[in-house]
Amino acid sequence: MAKKMAPTTGFFLPSLLLLGLLSCFHLQVVASKSASLGKLESDILQESIIKSVNNNPKAGWKASMNDRFSNYTVSQFKHLLGVKPTPLGELQSVPVKIHSERLNLPSQFDARTAWPKCRTIGKYLYQGHCGSCWAFAAVESLSDRFCIQFDMNISLSVNDLLACCGFMCGDGCDGGYPIAAWRYFKRSGVVTDECDPYFDQTGCSHPGCEPAYPTPKCKKQCVGGNLLWKKSKHFSVSAYKVQSDPSNIMAEVYKNGPVEVAFTVYEDFAHYKSGVYKHITGEEMGGHAVKLIGWGTSDEGEDYWLMANQWNRSWGDDGYFKIRRGTNECGIEEEVVAGLPSSKNVVKEITNINDAFLDASA
Ligand SMILES: *[C@@H]1O[C@H](CO)[C@@H](O)[C@H](O)[C@H]1NC(C)=O
Ligand SMILES: *[C@@H]1O[C@H](CO)[C@@H](O)[C@H](O)[C@H]1NC(C)=O
Ligand SMILES: *[C@@H]1O[C@H](CO)[C@@H](O)[C@H](O)[C@H]1NC(C)=O
Repeated sequence: MAKKMAPTTGFFLPSLLLLGLLSCFHLQVVASKSASLGKLESDILQESIIKSVNNNPKAGWKASMNDRFSNYTVSQFKHLLGVKPTPLGELQSVPVKIHSERLNLPSQFDARTAWPKCRTIGKYLYQGHCGSCWAFAAVESLSDRFCIQFDMNISLSVNDLLACCGFMCGDGCDGGYPIAAWRYFKRSGVVTDECDPYFDQTGCSHPGCEPAYPTPKCKKQCVGGNLLWKKSKHFSVSAYKVQSDPSNIMAEVYKNGPVEVAFTVYEDFAHYKSGVYKHITGEEMGGHAVKLIGWGTSDEGEDYWLMANQWNRSWGDDGYFKIRRGTNECGIEEEVVAGLPSSKNVVKEITNINDAFLDASA
């Protein structure tokens, strides 16, 4: 009996994994089937969508032909939406952050003005042609949190996470899991952007870019050779999901800084220009991750979240957007993840700075 059991359990676990993989494939197949081949090759930007949003008095937002996607097909646009559904097992072991204390939360909040000395919060982000949103939103939020917690300007490396986290995070430029990014920060740390800069800053003009956008290779070496990979690592002490209640999400951002959020993107979102977004028209395109940096209420009385996208400034409201708050619009309040920065390796920098300062003043 015992002899029989062993191979059974041995088989059981891999086959569960396999089942997980198969169901991911299954989802993808269903998703691409829903958009016909002709549709995938058509332009993402459509006059008909702009009309139906701009002529809808209840929309609350304006649509336009965003320059950013003027030459994009539906298929290219979908490739930017790199959030994969997190495997159930992964989610179940994630701690959930609940803020039970009563905070006097302001009705309007913008992390850029709350922490004006932290320049990464308002940095314009650009993921290029790679489905790296899951990595961008995570790395950028952690950079902001280092500044908020330790009073230091630091840009962390999207490339490190994208290239070196491997299958634990998903599939690099073909999408990943937001929570796995934060677990990587805790487990392996993340180097600075100076050590390992983002590979796709030049957009799709570099060789080997078409038709696939390959994930960069993990080199574990700083460019230029002036910095050490290991010393350049910055860690988080935690990786958690923020409980979905809007006031709980607000408390988290108010206390600890920007968070990473995942949501579902529909065709109309590619056309967003200004106002408070809500889904009006168009098919589902995929999952996307962005940085949530604040909230407020519009002149029309609509509550919104303030978000930094990473499609550069020629998309949306100078790279930013607002989305309806409090109704879980497009799942925006469902998958909110973050972590707190660790003083490991940072304490040394701060001590060094203090030493230099003391030396200089002595
Ligand atoms: C779109 O493509 C055309 C021709 O390929 C090019 O001339 C134009 O500059 C492109 N537009 C943008 C905004 O990239
Ligand atoms: C970050 O850099 C900016 C200048 O680029 C500076 O004004 C700001 O004080 C710095 N912040 C911190 C926390 O050192
Ligand atoms: C982002 O947009 C700015 C202003 O539109 C532009 O100057 C810059 O080249 C863009 N960055 C990238 C990486 O495309």
